[in-house]
Amino acid sequence: MLSVRHVLDLDEFSLADIELVLDTASSMLEVLRRPIRRVPALRGKTMVNLFYEASTRTRVSFELAAKSLSADVVNVSASGSSVEKGESIGDTVKTLEALGADTIVIRHSASGAPYLAAEHTNATVINAGDGWHAHPTQALLDLYTLRQRFGRLAGLRVVIVGDILHSRVARSNIWGLSRVGASVTICAPHTLLPVGIGDGHCGGLPRLEVTSDLDRAIVDADAVMALRMQSERQASGMVPSLREYIRRYQITNDRLERARSNALVMHPGPMNEGVEIAPDVAHGARSVIQDQVTNGVAIRMALLYLLHGDANGTI
Ligand code: CP
Repeated sequence: MLSVRHVLDLDEFSLADIELVLDTASSMLEVLRRPIRRVPALRGKTMVNLFYEASTRTRVSFELAAKSLSADVVNVSASGSSVEKGESIGDTVKTLEALGADTIVIRHSASGAPYLAAEHTNATVINAGDGWHAHPTQALLDLYTLRQRFGRLAGLRVVIVGDILHSRVARSNIWGLSRVGASVTICAPHTLLPVGIGDGHCGGLPRLEVTSDLDRAIVDADAVMALRMQSERQASGMVPSLREYIRRYQITNDRLERARSNALVMHPGPMNEGVEIAPDVAHGARSVIQDQVTNGVAIRMALLYLLHGDANGTI
């Protein structure tokens, strides 16, 4: 089973944990391809989706994952709940546990919110994205998608480009990709790079290659992961001109000519097509963006099963 009780970020996952999740996700994908996409593994368990921030992919895929494992699912959003009356995160998760939650999946705009939640409940907490900090289940589905296409992860060259400063997806992917032996290059304008990210002093992140020159970074890349320009997290304009940003950092078919001939294009979504990624690339032959979404259900099934299921039971 996993060495962790909660899923807060991938820095806490060993290589064996990651491999177990990816292998289990393959079995879950097989379940999802059956005519009846439901197994009884988590019958009697309850998962609560506690989302303080907008989501389509993550919230829906957790709900589908839990339902495919026959768990009960309750969706709670900040609006319409007692959070609007000022209830704290701690009191909210204690209340949900008292109501029978075995797992609480939490998304919050504040970095660290899932860690606070985990301190206040005996339920299992899964981080569905906290502020700029972490999005571990997204990184796991990204790893799965890469392994599905390449048959391996070690030795792959992955370029992550875009608004790194505000990206929880980038941080979790840096942990995950480094753990499995892939090499990671981070590419962004200087104003969208966290201070110290290149010298191994940025939140303890592993040392990685950092550049602001996408045309050089993309040479011989196995995969290019474009990140959304996060206008909702930018206190002020951090690029002088969007047109200039698009010219230097948009993933285009011309730029992809420099990558390996079988290079993949990834994006966690939601996309700003025409900003960080050209529409013909987003929907082109190299794009695995739809696979990422589909694999998200299998990864979340795997996590729920490994955290709560009977490891000896069949699925
Ligand atoms: N990738 C991702 O977290 O998407 P959502 O915001 O739609 O959940």
